[in-house]
Amino acid sequence: MAGPPLVPRRGPGCGSLLLLLPALLVSWAACQAPPVPAAEPPWDGADVRVERRFVPERCPRAVRRGDFVRYHYHGAFPDGTRFDSSYDRGSTFNVFVGKGQLIAGMDKALVGMCVNERRFVKIPPKLAYGSEGVSGVIPPNAVLHFDVLLIDLWNSEDEVQVQTYFKPETCPRTVQVSDFVRYHYNGTFLDGTLFDSSHNRMRTYDTYVGIGWLIPGMDQGLLGMCVGEKRIITIPPFLAYGEEGDGKEIPSQASLVFDVVLLDLHNPKDGITIENQHIPESCERRSQTGDFLRYHYNGTLLDGTLFDSSYSRNRTYDTYVGKGYVIAGMDEGLLGICIGEKRRIIIPPHLGYGEEGRGKIPGSAVLVFDIHVVDFHNPSDSVSITVNYKPSNCTILSKKGDYLKYHYNASLLDGTLLDSTLSLGKTYNIVLGSGQVVVGMDMGLQDMCVGERRTVVIPPHLGYGEDGVVFRVHSSSSQFWQRKTSSRF
Ligand SMILES: *[C@@H]1O[C@H](CO)[C@@H](O)[C@H](O)[C@H]1NC(C)=O
Ligand SMILES: *[C@@H]1O[C@H](CO)[C@@H](O)[C@H](O)[C@H]1NC(C)=O
Ligand SMILES: *[C@@H]1O[C@H](CO)[C@@H](O)[C@H](O)[C@H]1NC(C)=O
Ligand SMILES: *[C@@H]1O[C@H](CO)[C@@H](O)[C@H](O)[C@H]1NC(C)=O
Ligand SMILES: *[C@@H]1O[C@H](CO)[C@@H](O)[C@H](O)[C@H]1NC(C)=O
Repeated sequence: MAGPPLVPRRGPGCGSLLLLLPALLVSWAACQAPPVPAAEPPWDGADVRVERRFVPERCPRAVRRGDFVRYHYHGAFPDGTRFDSSYDRGSTFNVFVGKGQLIAGMDKALVGMCVNERRFVKIPPKLAYGSEGVSGVIPPNAVLHFDVLLIDLWNSEDEVQVQTYFKPETCPRTVQVSDFVRYHYNGTFLDGTLFDSSHNRMRTYDTYVGIGWLIPGMDQGLLGMCVGEKRIITIPPFLAYGEEGDGKEIPSQASLVFDVVLLDLHNPKDGITIENQHIPESCERRSQTGDFLRYHYNGTLLDGTLFDSSYSRNRTYDTYVGKGYVIAGMDEGLLGICIGEKRRIIIPPHLGYGEEGRGKIPGSAVLVFDIHVVDFHNPSDSVSITVNYKPSNCTILSKKGDYLKYHYNASLLDGTLLDSTLSLGKTYNIVLGSGQVVVGMDMGLQDMCVGERRTVVIPPHLGYGEDGVVFRVHSSSSQFWQRKTSSRF
């Protein structure tokens, strides 16, 4: 094929084309007419004849003069001999409509066409190559038949189009310039052909928005989006890959349609966020750096996917706070918390697992931890004693070596009852300071008088190792003996 006959004519060809323009304007109204009726008169060969062989149900826009189109075509003479085909070249024909870049008949025939529409077009010689023809390709006075399929359509005045088709009920923040997002997408051309999908790679697309990491149309189209939102972003080629294409799947001058769902959103400047706090009524002390905390948690991603939960293991997560044993965001989020408190800690990836992620946590993921603090203590804590009742005639105080009888209720800091002399039905009896009870209890029972009630809080390192324990003690009044000399039992 010696050059496709539909490429813009330059030089001498332009003159003859311009001469045809008045005719084109005169018959303009005919072009806007509805589809050709079923019983139509035979073609008189005076003007182009358009037969709409397939019209798609969905036609959001139709070709207008000045639009840029990409289409496939077969060109044949009335006897069926093919003289040209875009299919043979393996690429669409790309051109502006109604700007004289095409033979006049084609400029007319394309107007009103939808993407995916197929038209069969007859063009008389005076709206094609006239009495001259094209040397070696189109003989003089040739009628031309074209079978045309429209693939793409845009206008240089187009903007990015955004159509949201799902919006979550809550949307605490939306995408702004310089945010970092993670999203899934399917990328198609206007005709519906898929050219790329994040699903094929089994991972989200992760990027900054609005700072030129993306094609301009995507940088615009993602702005204002909520986590969980789904939208269709339609981008004309001059805000996508333009005349060059991407050198792979995306051809020259292609409009792109992205179906996007946003999964994650943060800004690199973000710190942690604490919300949904439930603080118990009594909170004598708040956690500080160096404390040893025991807490339950549910860890989810912003889109609600659970990645880990201490409940599934039936045991608390135990750690020192502020010492770098946990991710930086958690170290910070666990400070200033009360025993029994619940809070939500939202941690951006740079204070979490970063760009790498870990295990079920994808790279660059925002983490949402719902935590419930069961207890904490500081390793330097000593036994804490609160006297609840002291009899007035309190003269003799318990000492090391004394034989003691007492009642107690023992519980964990969160109130879980561990043990009680009530269930024994009798007092607990020991020799004070002889190692019959944990060190903390030996300390907590010192200097007590008969009938006294106290609360003794024993930190783990003076108690049973892992858990802090609260003993509510009542030294039994009728059976308190004091031995002046320490003796072994
Ligand atoms: C993309 O295509 C997949 C598979 O057809 C589908 O599950 C998904 O909902 C589509 N949309 C987005 C935004 O990923
Ligand atoms: C956790 O405890 C519950 C109830 O005691 C039990 O049904 C479940 O199997 C336990 N799960 C694990 C992982 O130990
Ligand atoms: C964690 O999730 C479980 C199950 O949904 C729930 O019962 C529990 O209260 C949650 N814990 C926190 C701290 O939100
Ligand atoms: C203290 O007084 C109570 C009665 O108020 C009495 O039962 C108890 O024996 C007295 N204890 C001592 C050590 O005197
Ligand atoms: C232990 O608990 C029971 C029931 O609540 C209470 O009657 C008793 O006085 C408590 N004993 C101590 C030593 O606090």
